[in-house]
Amino acid sequence: MTSLIRGGTIVTAEQTFRADVLCVGGKIAAIGPDLEAPAGAEIIDAGGQYVMPGGIDPHTHMQLPFMGTVASEDFYTGTAAALAGGTTSIIDFVIPDPQQSIMEAYKTWRGWAEKSAADYGFHVAITWWDDSVHKDMGDLVRHEGVNSFKHFMAYKGAIMADDEVLYNSFSRSLELGAMPTVHAENGELVFQLQKKLLEEGITGPEGHPLSRPPAAEGEAANRALRLAEVIGVPLYIVHVSASDALDEIKRARAAGQRVYGEVLAGHLTIDDSVYRNPDWDVAAAHVMSPPFRSPEHQAALWKGLQGGALHTTATDHCCFCADQKAMGKDNFAQIPNGTAGVEDRMSVLWTHGVGTGRLTMNEFVAVTSANAAKIFNIYPQKGSISVGADADLVIWDPEASKTISVKTHHQNVDYNIFEGMEVTGLATHTLSRGALAYKDGDLRAIKGAGQYVKRPAYPAAFEALARKAAHNKPTPVKRD
Ligand code: URP
Ligand code: ZN
Ligand code: ZN
Repeated sequence: MTSLIRGGTIVTAEQTFRADVLCVGGKIAAIGPDLEAPAGAEIIDAGGQYVMPGGIDPHTHMQLPFMGTVASEDFYTGTAAALAGGTTSIIDFVIPDPQQSIMEAYKTWRGWAEKSAADYGFHVAITWWDDSVHKDMGDLVRHEGVNSFKHFMAYKGAIMADDEVLYNSFSRSLELGAMPTVHAENGELVFQLQKKLLEEGITGPEGHPLSRPPAAEGEAANRALRLAEVIGVPLYIVHVSASDALDEIKRARAAGQRVYGEVLAGHLTIDDSVYRNPDWDVAAAHVMSPPFRSPEHQAALWKGLQGGALHTTATDHCCFCADQKAMGKDNFAQIPNGTAGVEDRMSVLWTHGVGTGRLTMNEFVAVTSANAAKIFNIYPQKGSISVGADADLVIWDPEASKTISVKTHHQNVDYNIFEGMEVTGLATHTLSRGALAYKDGDLRAIKGAGQYVKRPAYPAAFEALARKAAHNKPTPVKRD
């Protein structure tokens, strides 16, 4: 398959310039002005538009079994929706049950993901600890291309990792050159607050944010950061939603720690008033963790993204329909946690980021694509427009507008948290490994066309840490 993108302006995380892009066999073969079209090449007119690296959403949960049900979006429908919005890769999560072999769980998720229409990788969650987990982490890194491990500090009684698990897994990650990541909320505190609120008669979705205050996030972020500091391993904190956690990241970075923060398009643009909506279904549709926060936290998150304390944007795409949310009709703690967004992230961030002057176009590419590729070690194969890179590209019309709606979205869920939002800046074409997967409203996603992307361990970053550890190695006191 050969295609030539003509007449566009290339925007990467580093630069903006006019050039054509030739894609051959799924890779970028040439970049330059007025490229010759090889015989049989498909010509794509990008005149007046931007050509950018396809988005990478580093946080999705397709068909996740969770809280007694299974997320409604599968790997095909979810990646197809992603392509419609200009996202060409996702990093999803393998989440083993406690005591389940993490390798067995990984293989199960790999099987589910074979129907993906876009490229994908996996973070693997460490939900328990024994020697088999220690061994399988090594095999996942060395043989399977997994370079990040996830730890849920919330969801007590289910998948929560306690400090012992965190210590063991962070230490093992350091040995392997893999990135530990955390969902930072104090799960014990959330559990106790849920109980108290229910006893006080608060059973509706308004109880959800009350049971998960910003301080619970700040405490967990600080605990994870301090563990990572002592162990000497980098840390990536997913879905930072509160200034309490952001401040901990800033403190750690200022102290020289290698730490990265992710923020969700939803947390940047939706506030906590949604939980007091008189319509139970609407309020419940917004139940996700951490919850949407007050406008003060949102303003802090934008500044964190602008100022470099937050590095990536994601969606935590985890869809549950109204009948699934209804499982928590009498108890907000049983409403399946999760909201959608993989299709809308790029447009929402362009509109509220570039459109408002908060982000430059190059910063937009950094936070929607390049930074995730760098942090998770798949750059420049992904996240760049360079010769030899995968031809994962989005052609972007900065003037095109639409109103986001459940009536027109491609996501397999019956609610859209961005419903009614007017966005300006849309994908007109999305290329996945050089194949046109979306063109002007025509979604051509192919089931199974997505490929698993292996992510190697990080020798360079971890060598620096190993040198630092050797330098600071304690010595015993010599006594007679
Ligand atoms: O509410 C959420 N975020 N659901 C998915 C699981 C998680 O915590 O990431
Ligand atoms: Zn989470
Ligand atoms: Zn998540």
